[in-house]
Amino acid sequence: MTAITAPNPSRRDFLYLATGVAAAAGVAAAAWPLVDQMNPDRKTIASGVPIEIDLAPIAPGQILSLIWRGKPIFVRHRTAQEIAAEEATPLSALMDPQADADRVKPGKAQWLVVYASCTHLGCIPLGHRGDWGGWFCPCHGSQYDASGRVRRGPAALNLPVPPYSFVDDTTLRIGEA
Ligand code: FES
Repeated sequence: MTAITAPNPSRRDFLYLATGVAAAAGVAAAAWPLVDQMNPDRKTIASGVPIEIDLAPIAPGQILSLIWRGKPIFVRHRTAQEIAAEEATPLSALMDPQADADRVKPGKAQWLVVYASCTHLGCIPLGHRGDWGGWFCPCHGSQYDASGRVRRGPAALNLPVPPYSFVDDTTLRIGEA
């Protein structure tokens, strides 16, 4: 299941993309027997079958939540203000120092793609919450900024970035860097 969340709760908060998911699942299911037959190497197995995501429905400020290879992933369409704030954050202010530019693709700073599991004990953080407006983990209070970088513990590590690439301006491929 995928869902889009918006920062303003007065707007429609969830948009389910059942059709897109079914299409993606169909592609994955159809591709698997072929991949299996080809006896992929360990690297291929580890990376999983890539899935493609249509970015067009995700407005600036919204976050798409989806499952890939059994793991939750966030695709966040960041606003210009969010990008500016994350790029201006000094590494000295970070618990797990990493530049924002190293967490997004060149020229695509509006798109942040991260695993959606809190790096403390794996809960799914809530978007647009917390002191940094990124994510707030309801389990033990860890907070992340809009770059997915941890800003308050008990988590100590940033949300990891999965392998992904852009097929074109509106199509994201997860599972293939
Ligand atoms: S699982 Fe997120 S703070 Fe503990």
